[in-house]
Amino acid sequence: MKDLKSARILLVDDEERNIRLLEVLLQAEGYSTLYAKNGRDALKMTAIAQPDLILLDIMMPDMDGYQTVAELKANPLTQPIPVIMLTALDDRASKLRALEAGAEEFLSKPIDRADLIIRVRNLLRLKEYGDFLTDHNRILENQVEQRTRQLESAYRDTVFTLVRAAEHKDEETGHHVKRISYYCRVLAQALNLPLEFHDAIFQASPMHDIGKIGIPDHVLLKPGSFNQDEWNIMRTHCALGASILASGTSPYTEMGAEIALNHHEHWDGSGYPNGLKGEAIPIAARVMQICDVYDALRSRRPYKPAMDHDASLQIITDGDGRTEPEHFDPAVLSCFIAQADRFAAIYDLHADA
Ligand code: C2E
Ligand code: SIN
Ligand code: SIN
Ligand code: FE
Ligand code: FE
Repeated sequence: MKDLKSARILLVDDEERNIRLLEVLLQAEGYSTLYAKNGRDALKMTAIAQPDLILLDIMMPDMDGYQTVAELKANPLTQPIPVIMLTALDDRASKLRALEAGAEEFLSKPIDRADLIIRVRNLLRLKEYGDFLTDHNRILENQVEQRTRQLESAYRDTVFTLVRAAEHKDEETGHHVKRISYYCRVLAQALNLPLEFHDAIFQASPMHDIGKIGIPDHVLLKPGSFNQDEWNIMRTHCALGASILASGTSPYTEMGAEIALNHHEHWDGSGYPNGLKGEAIPIAARVMQICDVYDALRSRRPYKPAMDHDASLQIITDGDGRTEPEHFDPAVLSCFIAQADRFAAIYDLHADA
């Protein structure tokens, strides 16, 4: 309803004469009217025409007014439409029953014009305000949703910028961190982890190596393999990353810190920095670890050339002396094997230029 005068009022009465009378009175006020001759038609008409107000007779064949109003008020779509019931004069019992059944108001027959006009106007104002609130809530909900999306995407931009600053150095690219998100989400889904986890690991996993920003170039960019001192330095990237992310307050940075700290732990206890074993390693880190190794194998590094999918898969499943299958959570490993084609597809789709 754009304004009160454009309101549509549904008249429900089995007596033609009563309908004509109400029509004359209401149309003289500028309202438009519809009518139905019984409760059942009234319900159908309401669903189709969405009136702003209903005037409802009580005594009707088939479905009476009480039953009709009860159905209108039980349906969330028609519940907001105000109902005025037309009762016999001085019939206190039926007036109470009308209110109990959910009608907003009642009017005694014979209808008094002034009474009718005032009640109709009051209830239409109420309806208008209710419509306003419903629209307003819908607008607010949309805005909140939209801003949440904007925040999420701004957040992801920030993460990428930060991560790229770190990885620029060892020639990992933005593509690598994107792929990591996708691999991790594939495994989270295949492992049937909770839905919030899918989103969290998608956002958190790109930060796993953020601590490399603190590793000196002569170590990070070394073309050959590390001596013991260099390894000791490199291994600090886990705790370093966790302490960078510890200052964050979102669930993403929280999971990011957990992943950064634990993504080089091994299931058999041979990893670093803490030599954790089995389920003592957080699941997010166990998922991350295998994705990291797969992508590192596929990629060129200062110290190694890129490998193809089959060679990478084989190193993970059979081991090569550096990486061993015992390093991985067996459940995560078998999921990875089952999803290996999807890993290949993700790598190809987001390949480095
Ligand atoms: P990264 O290059 O991102 O590699 C991540 C993980 O993938 C490695 O963890 C390792 O588990 C696996 N990985 C990468 N390349 C290979 C490979 O050629 N063969 C096998 N079997 N596994 C591979 P890891 O070993 O804890 O290394 C952590 C990080 O330390 C690496 O991250 C890389 O930045 C650095 N790093 C490791 N070894 C060397 C090296 O010999 N030279 C240099 N310059 N950096 C190294
Ligand atoms: C109203 O229609 O009375 C609500 C006005 C407003 O909150 O802006
Ligand atoms: C409000 O009513 O408090 C917010 C107004 C709006 O942004 O729609
Ligand atoms: Fe790492
Ligand atoms: Fe990485």
